Amino acid sequence: MSDSADEPRDPATGLPRYRTEPVSFTRRGGRLGERQQRVWDQLADDMVLDVPQGGPSTSVHPDYRFDPEAVFGRRAPLVVEIGSGYGEALSHAATEHPEWDFLGIEVYLPAVAQTLLHVRREGLTNLRLAVANAPEMLTTAIAPGSLHELRIWFPDPWHKTRHHKRRLITDAFAKIAAQALPPGGVWRAATDWADYGDQIAEVIARSEDFDGGRSERFAGRPVTRFETKGLKVGRDIHDFTAVRRP
Ligand SMILES: C[S@@+](CC[C@H](N)C(=O)[O-])C[C@H]1O[C@@H](n2cnc3c(N)ncnc32)[C@H](O)[C@@H]1O
Repeated sequence: MSDSADEPRDPATGLPRYRTEPVSFTRRGGRLGERQQRVWDQLADDMVLDVPQGGPSTSVHPDYRFDPEAVFGRRAPLVVEIGSGYGEALSHAATEHPEWDFLGIEVYLPAVAQTLLHVRREGLTNLRLAVANAPEMLTTAIAPGSLHELRIWFPDPWHKTRHHKRRLITDAFAKIAAQALPPGGVWRAATDWADYGDQIAEVIARSEDFDGGRSERFAGRPVTRFETKGLKVGRDIHDFTAVRRP
């Protein structure tokens, strides 16, 4: 995030009022349905991190630090999923690996509430959520080298050329991912957009921090509703695996 001296700041907090750089999401209605509101009221205090904002909505205060040991009450390998959507893949993974901890970072509130329904139904204790802009969480809140894995399933494609600058997975993002992973840590991704797939392959190939590229479908990834939509209109799925270099 830019912190140029002339950007508008809140005089009370000194924090920026607006974002000056593109983000990979748009503001959508954040209203919860009845069932979502009920599960939110029941579980959000325990399962959704209280992330202080650094100015605009879903921003992350630069002083905030995520402490997994305090949050999960144990020390375990930590997997982060960015854009966890309705939580299908995240809850599946948390069920498959009770010995690991999982953090979903998602800006869309109804999707986070929907994930809480999985948490309740499956009785998950190793899953938490953050309503926050993921690159900011990884840059300042998550300790360097502290992740076991980073996963991004079907990032918003921003398919119009003039919107490509909003895509999440760029050279700059690869640096942020590399900072969060230790040597040997794994970054997985999948997309159903061929040219975003080419972009991800190029980002990984150009990165000095990762070995890897296109890969087989990750066995731990269930078919989510976004994948189903892509498959229905005949798109191919592109999978990627990259390992953090020493
Ligand atoms: C196309 S959906 C895919 C959801 C899910 N991964 C799946 O496969 O079903 C992309 C998701 O990423 C979220 N998202 C986009 N940019 C984000 C960001 N910078 N930080 C957190 N979440 C983000 C969106 O709100 C959306 O829910």
